[in-house]
Amino acid sequence: MTTNRQVILAEKPEGVPTPENFALRQAPLPETPKGGVLCRTRFLSLDPYMRSQIAGRHPSGTVAPGEVMRGETVGEVMESNSTELPVGRLVRCMGGWQEYSAHAAGEAQLLDEAITPPSHALSILGMTGLTAYAGMVWQAGVREGECVLIPAVTGAVGSAAAQFCALRGARVIGIAGSQAKCRFARESLGVEACINRHTEDIGARLGELCPSGIDVYFDLIGGSLLQTACAHLADHGRIVLCGLMAEYNRSVREPGPPPGLLIAKRAVVSGLVVYDYEDRREEYIRECLPLLNAGKIHQREDISQGLESAPDAFCHLMLGKNFGKVVVAL
Ligand SMILES: NC(=O)c1ccc[n+]([C@@H]2O[C@H](COP(=O)([O-])OP(=O)(O)OC[C@H]3O[C@@H](n4cnc5c(N)ncnc54)[C@H](OP(=O)(O)O)[C@@H]3O)[C@@H](O)[C@H]2O)c1
Repeated sequence: MTTNRQVILAEKPEGVPTPENFALRQAPLPETPKGGVLCRTRFLSLDPYMRSQIAGRHPSGTVAPGEVMRGETVGEVMESNSTELPVGRLVRCMGGWQEYSAHAAGEAQLLDEAITPPSHALSILGMTGLTAYAGMVWQAGVREGECVLIPAVTGAVGSAAAQFCALRGARVIGIAGSQAKCRFARESLGVEACINRHTEDIGARLGELCPSGIDVYFDLIGGSLLQTACAHLADHGRIVLCGLMAEYNRSVREPGPPPGLLIAKRAVVSGLVVYDYEDRREEYIRECLPLLNAGKIHQREDISQGLESAPDAFCHLMLGKNFGKVVVAL
């Protein structure tokens, strides 16, 4: 009988996670539930929120040592007790870091066969693309001619956000962690200028690049960059607070920017939680799929092979070393 290989959290990391914090184990195949399906994982999405789940600070719950790491997956239906989810079809589900997962009725969604490659259901046509669209289009309402600052601009959310803003005629300034990423942002994502966060003075460069101030800042990072961006905000500038890349590996969070700075700029600050937009996912896919098919937007994916590569790939992501949406192909 086939067994189910799984990656569990072996111990809670202190600071940046390392591959030793995870372990592979074999488990029996799960039973196919009544009305549900048994899936074989084809693609596993790795995302920064998993670090918060490990730390016990995420609204979706905690992963404790000994438990299988959670995550969104594209799986192939291997056994089905559902007429809506036939054997052989691909579905999107929360399969986790394992080869097989069982899902009750309603816990797996049939993948639209127009989504190719299927990994796009976890990236540009999935949660990270939806986050970018919700943040920049629905929440910030980015308009033609506005100056938009996007950090982690070659990452999953950042790269989608940059392209949506550029397509709307905004001037996009990116921030990234290497020259190669900056070049890619300028050449492939519609980014006008990209600041290397490791080698350049971000505040000084923002002063040069955005003399009239930043109209929209998409905050994927938190930490001191949020304060720097606030200092360069235009009057009535908008900030969409979305992520805390600079802080997930820390046990103590940094204080935010001084309120006086936000008052002086008449800033509009809004928090974004992508789960709030779940009921608009289909609407988003209808908007985005034609752009993708027409080659007007692109998705770079940072794909590693095999379940056993997941711990390394996740640690790479939490060090900021990924280049594109992190996905594991099984
Ligand atoms: N609120 C929501 O509903 C929601 C939904 C999805 C994602 N998010 C958030 O959006 C952010 C981006 O997520 P993503 O999946 O698109 O990740 P990603 O951008 O693909 O990867 C993270 C990137 O962050 C950058 N980074 C900047 N400072 C860093 C630091 N101190 N340590 C490590 N990396 C750093 C790195 O790029 P460079 O080296 O190029 O700077 C790294 O590649 C995350 O904060 C995530 O939690 C929020």
